[in-house]
Amino acid sequence: MKGLILSGGHGARLRPITYSQQKQLIPIANKPILFYCIEDLINAGIHDIAIVVGPNKEQVIDTVRSAQWDAAIEFVHQDAPRGLAHAVKIAEKFLEDEKFIMYLGDNLLKGGITGFVNDFIDADVESSLLLTRVENPHQYGVALVDEQKKVIVKLMEKPRNPPSNLSIVGIYGLTPSIFEAIERIKPSWRGELEITDALHWLIEKGYSIRYDLVEGWWKDTGKPEDLLEANRLILDGICSENKGCIENSRINGRIVIGDNTVIEEHSTIAGPAIIGDNCTISSAYVGPFTSIGNNCRIIDTEVENSIVLDGSDIVHGGKIIESLIGKEVRIRKNNSLPKGKKLVVGDNSEIEL
Ligand code: TTP
Repeated sequence: MKGLILSGGHGARLRPITYSQQKQLIPIANKPILFYCIEDLINAGIHDIAIVVGPNKEQVIDTVRSAQWDAAIEFVHQDAPRGLAHAVKIAEKFLEDEKFIMYLGDNLLKGGITGFVNDFIDADVESSLLLTRVENPHQYGVALVDEQKKVIVKLMEKPRNPPSNLSIVGIYGLTPSIFEAIERIKPSWRGELEITDALHWLIEKGYSIRYDLVEGWWKDTGKPEDLLEANRLILDGICSENKGCIENSRINGRIVIGDNTVIEEHSTIAGPAIIGDNCTISSAYVGPFTSIGNNCRIIDTEVENSIVLDGSDIVHGGKIIESLIGKEVRIRKNNSLPKGKKLVVGDNSEIEL
């Protein structure tokens, strides 16, 4: 079976980070989200993968090629984010005439997809979807199901009055019938070819779509708070590994510390947390559920429940909580007059002072 990962899209809800970085490359516990998706497909026995790329495509291609994979990976270029169904349509040549799995490259799933894939291989259905119960179904693609037959009877994209609290998770088992369905649908009000419309077309034609419920957690990393929660969930499962150097400092709980990283000058690290390579943590507190990338300096600062990307430098930064800090960011105390907050902040940033 083949796998298709969607790694295009603008990621507008994650600006300004996504002005310079494709959403699926944002690291969770210091590993790009996209890598978790590739690993899930490979672990489910899928070794023939295409990745749909759009904005920042060179970045995605270079990052994927920088790692070794037990899979043949190719890239399909989408000229603009014209919808999930459009991404499937442009990959038709790669997918040919077999069942395949589509995986949205910004989704994280704890339990992997092996069970789901095996059930789909055996099932005589046109499609299989993973569903999960959510508190705010009007924000998602929602499914109405027949629990006895284990099939989906209706699908709606962000309905005003959701008929159930079962949301579609970003992993889809599809067959070539989806290509005909995509030909038959029109772009939605937002100008995109919606995969839910194509799937709904299949249901109306009498084809069956089965479903599985997610076991463990699932996270769609569309917004900053989703990234922080995904980071918490992944860090919750890490095992300690220390390749760095700890001098006059305290380490509590499960911590991963990278090569050439120095923790010094009465710092405290409280896990679960991960600190990348070549970092200096000095007179600082790195609290639980924090991921710090490579080549960062955290000096006389407290950081907790946050993600700090590569090359950032925080000196006398006070207490930083629940923050997403991009690459090569400089944060320091203003020691000169006039006192006050001095900001150079990118478009669409959010700051709580
Ligand atoms: P979305 O989260 O729906 O869209 P987005 O990533 O552009 O984010 P935002 O709404 O904040 O602008 O996309 C789900 C996944 O599918 C995500 O990994 C991006 C990918 N995608 C494509 O590859 N091509 C597309 O045309 C679209 C719409 C999304």
